[in-house]
Amino acid sequence: MGFKSIAVDGPSGAGKSTMAKRLAAKLGYLYVDTGAIYRTLGLFALKRGVDPADAGGVEGLLPQVSIRMDYGEDGLQHMYLGQEDVTEAIRTPAVSRAASQVSAHPAVRAYLLEMQRGMARNHNVIMDGRDIGTVVLPDADVKIFLTATAEDRARRRFEELQERGTDTDYDTVLREVIERDERDSGRAAAPLRRAEDALLVDTTGNSLEESFEALLQTIREKLA
Ligand code: DC
Repeated sequence: MGFKSIAVDGPSGAGKSTMAKRLAAKLGYLYVDTGAIYRTLGLFALKRGVDPADAGGVEGLLPQVSIRMDYGEDGLQHMYLGQEDVTEAIRTPAVSRAASQVSAHPAVRAYLLEMQRGMARNHNVIMDGRDIGTVVLPDADVKIFLTATAEDRARRRFEELQERGTDTDYDTVLREVIERDERDSGRAAAPLRRAEDALLVDTTGNSLEESFEALLQTIREKLA
C-alpha cells in the first residue's frame, strides 16, 4: 500500500513545525523536520571550522559526515551527528545561520534528498521544509505553504528564544529573519517558493490555534 504525504513549506518562523507536529499527532502521521537535517550539517561545518558559505569546503565534508534521524519513545525526531544526539545543539542562532548557508549549495541538497524521500517511501509523513512540495515530494497528496509577515515571524521566534533563555533582542532576530528569507528564497538551488498547487495559509495576526482547525479540516477532505 502506498503511503500518504503532506508537504508543509514556508519561510522560517511561520509556525510550520508547530503546525505540522500537531497535524501529525492528529492524523497519526510521522512528522519529519527537514530543516533539522540541514542544521545538523551546519553544526558539523562549524565544529570542523569550515565556513558554511564555502561550497567547496562544505562539499568536502559530505563524505565524512554521518547524519541520522531517529524517533525516540516520545515520538519526537532526534538528530544524531555520528553518535552524538544534537537535537538541542542545532537550535542556536549560529546554527540557524549555518544551516541556511550550507543549504544553498547544490551538492548538499542532492546529498540530502534521498534521506528525505526515503522517509516518505516508508511512512505516512507530514514533512516541513522549504522545497518539499516543489522538489522533495512533488507528488505529495496535500501541499501547504504557510507564511506570515517577517515582523510576526520575528516576534514568534524572539519569544521562543526568550523562553529558551537565549540572550537576544527583537531587532536582531528580525534582521536575521529577513537575512535568512533573502538567502532561502534568492538561492539558485531549490529556492523557497510556493508550489502552484499548494494551499496558501497566512498566519499573520492569527494564533496558530485559529489556523489549525481550518487546516485540519481541509487536509481531511483532501485525503478522503
Ligand atoms: O526550517 P529550519 O529553520 O530549521 O531550516 C534551517 C535552514 O535549512 C533554513 O534556513 C533553510 C534550510 N532548509 C532548506 O533549505 N530546505 C529545507 N527543506 C529545509 C530547510
